[in-house]
Amino acid sequence: MIKRYKDEAFLRKYYEDCRKYVAGSQELCFYADEKFRHSMQVVGAGNYLLKHEKTFQNWTEQEKYLAWLGCLFHDVGRFREICKRYENKDLHGANLRKYDHGEFSYEILQTSSQYLNPLLLFPIRHHGHLDADFFGEAGYLAASQKDKETMKNIFFLIKDADKIANFYLFRRHPEYYGSLICGTEKMRSAASPKVVESLSRQELCRNADIATPLDQMLRILSWVFDIKFKQSFVFLKKLGCIEDMLLRIRENNIDNKTQEKIEKVIKNFITESINETNIRGNSL
Ligand SMILES: [Fe+2]
Repeated sequence: MIKRYKDEAFLRKYYEDCRKYVAGSQELCFYADEKFRHSMQVVGAGNYLLKHEKTFQNWTEQEKYLAWLGCLFHDVGRFREICKRYENKDLHGANLRKYDHGEFSYEILQTSSQYLNPLLLFPIRHHGHLDADFFGEAGYLAASQKDKETMKNIFFLIKDADKIANFYLFRRHPEYYGSLICGTEKMRSAASPKVVESLSRQELCRNADIATPLDQMLRILSWVFDIKFKQSFVFLKKLGCIEDMLLRIRENNIDNKTQEKIEKVIKNFITESINETNIRGNSL
């Protein structure tokens, strides 16, 4: 029997220590609370995928446990990031790109002998990076063929579960679209042609193409193109997350024509993905 409560206590300790350290900032306390909740929701989404996704059906209990740990600990480094932001008086995350929380998670787990396992460490290290960074990681390249396959699927699991939890967050808190995502409460605008083009090609939006508040919402929506597992689409559909996001975009899009195009692209993509038999994004 694997004692998972000890692992949960490990994460909770980082969260509680961080909470004490940043007690002087309401913003950062709120952010830490949200990140702890997020970790538990990623575990929830990960459990759903481990149970329903075909890829994991023949996995051993030990492999499933490692995948579960990956979900639980992927963001433990967030609590180090939050402490550093407190030290640097960066309460609103103006310099968020300065911190690589995946790298912090990796460093924390690397110094904990019970979690020193490449199958866990490298997927966590790169969960916020591009797939190419993970597939270029020396620790991945040095692994046996079997371990590479396991590591890749834990990486994909963490990334999918992370996205599901984030899409769910926006469904629960549509107010986050305002100043947090769009940088303004005046969200009504049009989509930039380059953003619409990249959506039509079923690609992630590039930061360089983002020009309007609506583009910022569409950038989040484009995460669907990076989802790997069929059951992730099924779960998102059950939660109604994408429909809700399309509705929010519709409310703020001043152009009906592009709206119809975007909705068609996204709905077709999700239907195709649910009907597809293979996972996306095999190793490069
Ligand atoms: Fe993360």
